[in-house]
Amino acid sequence: PTKKAALLPALWIAQEDNDGWIPREAMKEVAEYLGLAPAEVEGVATFYTMYNKTPIGKYHVEVCHNIVCMVRGADQLIDHLGEKLGIGTGETTADKKFTLNPAECLGACANAPCMQIGETYFEDLTFEKADRIIEDLARQ
Ligand code: FES
Repeated sequence: PTKKAALLPALWIAQEDNDGWIPREAMKEVAEYLGLAPAEVEGVATFYTMYNKTPIGKYHVEVCHNIVCMVRGADQLIDHLGEKLGIGTGETTADKKFTLNPAECLGACANAPCMQIGETYFEDLTFEKADRIIEDLARQ
């Protein structure tokens, strides 16, 4: 009904067109296209964690650390994956393959702890299961 209603999907497209993140210039282009103030677009883009404001690796590993996943070991899982990948949260491996970040509730609480890599969910995670997933992706 309004151009503003297209803002979230427009940002999603901008992210897909920019290797998984949205540079400031792309936010300005979205603002211009939709007739919105650049500050309004930037405000929305920075509010939602699904929009990346910095470059990310080929595989964006987002581990839910909300209450259910946290109770089921998400913080330890994030630490474990950070050690395995040699990076901290918000960082990308030197080979640009993996970026690790905590995520808010992924809506898969019944199968906590869980993580999302790209558009794929991985649930009921253990250290061993997460290791296998990372190792499989590292070979690709
Ligand atoms: Fe982790 Fe909901 S708390 S999916």
